[in-house]
Amino acid sequence: MKVLVTGGAGFIGHTISKKYIEKGYKVTILDNLSTGKKENIPNDADFIFGDICDSKIIKKLGSFDLLSHHAAQTSVTFSVKNPLIDARNNIFGTISLLENMKGKINQIIFASTGGAIYGNIKKTATEKHKTNPESPYALNKMTGEKIVTMWAKQNKTKATILRYSNVYGLGQDPHGESGVIAIWMKNILEKKPCVIYGDGNSVRDYVYVEDVANANLLSIGKEGVFNIGTGIGTSTNTLFKMLRPKEKAIYKKAREGEVERSVLDASKAKKIFYWESKTRIQDGIRLTFSKETKRRKNNNE
Ligand SMILES: NC(=O)c1ccc[n+]([C@@H]2O[C@H](COP(=O)([O-])OP(=O)(O)OC[C@H]3O[C@@H](n4cnc5c(N)ncnc54)[C@H](O)[C@@H]3O)[C@@H](O)[C@H]2O)c1
Repeated sequence: MKVLVTGGAGFIGHTISKKYIEKGYKVTILDNLSTGKKENIPNDADFIFGDICDSKIIKKLGSFDLLSHHAAQTSVTFSVKNPLIDARNNIFGTISLLENMKGKINQIIFASTGGAIYGNIKKTATEKHKTNPESPYALNKMTGEKIVTMWAKQNKTKATILRYSNVYGLGQDPHGESGVIAIWMKNILEKKPCVIYGDGNSVRDYVYVEDVANANLLSIGKEGVFNIGTGIGTSTNTLFKMLRPKEKAIYKKAREGEVERSVLDASKAKKIFYWESKTRIQDGIRLTFSKETKRRKNNNE
């Protein structure tokens, strides 16, 4: 099995790449290292430094059984301030990549966002929930889904859309504006304060990155749109108590484009490819903390 992982030097992409390599798949990573890191790239993967918009590079790539498209501009806040850059990566980049891969792939797995495209969710959202993007990032990811689905139909390729909730785990960039668990862990380890934007009552569905990587393994060969989440909502205040039980948070003004409540129903993924989230948030946080502490120790950070 030959796989091309775009964004494979990033948080989720490199975890998936490792999982595929463990399975014996031959993995090629394409990444422009805009947010990804070279040290994330598994030794057994081929690495091509390049941009998904660069036709010359993409045209030179060979054929693959699977295109796992994870390269993207991923910050909601950045997209609100820079909608053109977001569209360049998430819309133009996706079209350009696919057009240059015509006839060279059998399946595309597209990393979408259940955490953003549904907007505010009252209870839990299945894939049938109406979409209501509230940021350029959400709108452009939703458009990306439609581009992938249409293109796959025209080119007799399988299309698999995985709508992740809020993913966390080792390797998440703590320097960006999203990924509250990674940001707080870094602050805790460096004895810095943790900030909550808004009143802390907003609710998210936190899914562990290893579970997400498993979904990417199990969905090979399956077509359609699938939520990948836990079905459990955790408020930012509750999350803060899990990480800092004895401390008080610092509250700042809520950020534009963020939704209030987002929790996903992933029963379709369970029914079609027997996936479900296996890691409780308490365990996932503990695992991430111990892996990050070990990583820092090994790197003398
Ligand atoms: N992290 C989450 O909670 C979450 C939730 C839903 C969906 N997603 C989606 O999952 C995917 C991976 O997200 P992540 O959290 O690992 O982010 P990330 O920023 O760690 O990874 C994105 C990777 O793509 C690369 N990249 C960006 N633009 C590129 C371009 N034009 N050409 C080539 N490479 C490029 C970056 O260098 C990086 O390595 C994204 O598509 C994101 O939209 C993430």
